[in-house]
Amino acid sequence: MTTASTRIAILFSGTGTNLRNLAAHINAAHVPATLELAICNRPEAKGLDFCRDNNIPHELINHTDYSDRADFDAAMQTALQAADIELICAAGFMRLLTPEFVNYWQDRIINIHPSLLPAYKGLHTHRRVLEAGENTHGCTVHLIRPEMDEGPILVQKQVYVFPTDTEDTLAARVMEQELIAYPEALDIMLSRLRG
Ligand code: GRF
Repeated sequence: MTTASTRIAILFSGTGTNLRNLAAHINAAHVPATLELAICNRPEAKGLDFCRDNNIPHELINHTDYSDRADFDAAMQTALQAADIELICAAGFMRLLTPEFVNYWQDRIINIHPSLLPAYKGLHTHRRVLEAGENTHGCTVHLIRPEMDEGPILVQKQVYVFPTDTEDTLAARVMEQELIAYPEALDIMLSRLRG
């Protein structure tokens, strides 16, 4: 589809560092996209304050209000379709999505994960990388597929792991790269979607 600009939604659950970074990138004049909606599944998420303070259209869809994943995903789907969303960016969104939802958005939903996929899928990646004595770590932006942390890779960034690293110092070094990787991946998707 080629419209004047691609209508984007961001899904998040927490602090919203990637949310803020993507919002700034999308708002840059040269990026042919608009941030039409942010969806958060946790009422205590700090990223909600950012949305309120910056007039970003947002919806809190609290997953604890829904009996199962399918009902929760259906509520998100209603919001996404009402906003005419064309591309979804999951950015620190800590919920597994149903295969039905993922398949509906096939090749139009992307995610960032704090590891060099396919290594270290799942949670606590920084801790596990340190425990394994790895020399390198990083982040991956990928198209979402029904299996967790699977899917074609758009961008990866690597960092060194130093012997003195703690979980926090390593997480901070990876986050620096996440803030570079996600805008790059978004630009790739925008050029693909706009043909
Ligand atoms: C990031 O490390 C992201 O890769 C992971 O969750 C973290 C979210 O952080 N999926 P934030 O909400 O963007 O600050």
